[in-house]
Amino acid sequence: MALQENDQRSPVAEFDPAFRRDVLEGLSRRPRAIPACWLYDRSGSELFEAITMLPEYYPTRAERSILSRAASEIAGLTGDARAVVEFGSGSSSKTPILLSAVNPSAYVPIDISIDFLWESAERLSAMFPNLPVYPIEADFTGTLQLPRAIENVPRLGFFPGSTIGNLVVPAAVDLLRMMAKTLGRGSMLLIGIDRIKNTDALLPAYDDAQGVTAAFNLNILHRINRDLRGTVPVDAFRHVARWNEAEARIEMHLMAARDVRFTVDGRHFSMARGEAIHTENSLKYGPHAANVLLRAGGWTPIAHWTDDGELFSVILAKEGAARSDPLVKLSQTDAVDRLAFRRVISVGD
Ligand code: TRP
Repeated sequence: MALQENDQRSPVAEFDPAFRRDVLEGLSRRPRAIPACWLYDRSGSELFEAITMLPEYYPTRAERSILSRAASEIAGLTGDARAVVEFGSGSSSKTPILLSAVNPSAYVPIDISIDFLWESAERLSAMFPNLPVYPIEADFTGTLQLPRAIENVPRLGFFPGSTIGNLVVPAAVDLLRMMAKTLGRGSMLLIGIDRIKNTDALLPAYDDAQGVTAAFNLNILHRINRDLRGTVPVDAFRHVARWNEAEARIEMHLMAARDVRFTVDGRHFSMARGEAIHTENSLKYGPHAANVLLRAGGWTPIAHWTDDGELFSVILAKEGAARSDPLVKLSQTDAVDRLAFRRVISVGD
């Protein structure tokens, strides 16, 4: 597997002070936890790509089918010529569906994984030769400066993959607010949000039979060893996925299968057998909760699509609060919005 691929890279070139700080702090906390963004180096991004193709991993297929079936409706609601800004674009595998439908004036993919970003930017440029593509290498949870070239163009944010679910609620609200600020007045957001469902379907999606998700999770330990001069005995750790009912989230942990001692950049750590490092959450939302989340984040949902199995949802929202508040005079736009909002369509696979 591609996991070995960049083991030859110079550790000095990969050294990142923010990664060092997050790992040292995270391993010192109780419970231990490392921010999930560090899962996505080149190997991690490749492994995640492999996850999206697993038979157990339903979100990608469900979301793609929703987007394909809803594409022309989405275009009808967004109108032409917006600049599409994709947050955490990765391989941008769902992007062509959207770009073909909405006739955009520019495409701005944002990702933390530079190699992936350029590769997919090139691929999309080839697919859409007349579309200006402006890739931005950034952690999209921070403040962003959009390219000058799209300064006066209305924006459509695209945030697929239920990545919003990888943030706890206050962080998700902050991110949505930041996106509203970055994208600006009159912008829209098309977001994928995974639904709450039976654990029989949920758990295998995060703990597949081939062990790809396990490799993805364990990759962060390899990265610590490679980039932070770590001595973590990776084979002593197990990938654990569990459903936290109270928080409606899947949690990913790396559990020590025996007592372990290791160092990271010269600092010593020990973990008892059964102790775990929390690496990721994947929050799931019912339709109402998803709308509440968006409103708290400064967006008004205007349309909501799901698949036949109601596994996943795609929501289109517009920037700002709804003007249907009783204190505010009702305008004609509101009447249209409320109609659109009531239309919940079901599409098949
Ligand atoms: N956004 C994806 C999700 O929550 C990310 C993801 C899928 C993931 N599988 C994972 C993150 C396994 C960590 C581990 O579904």
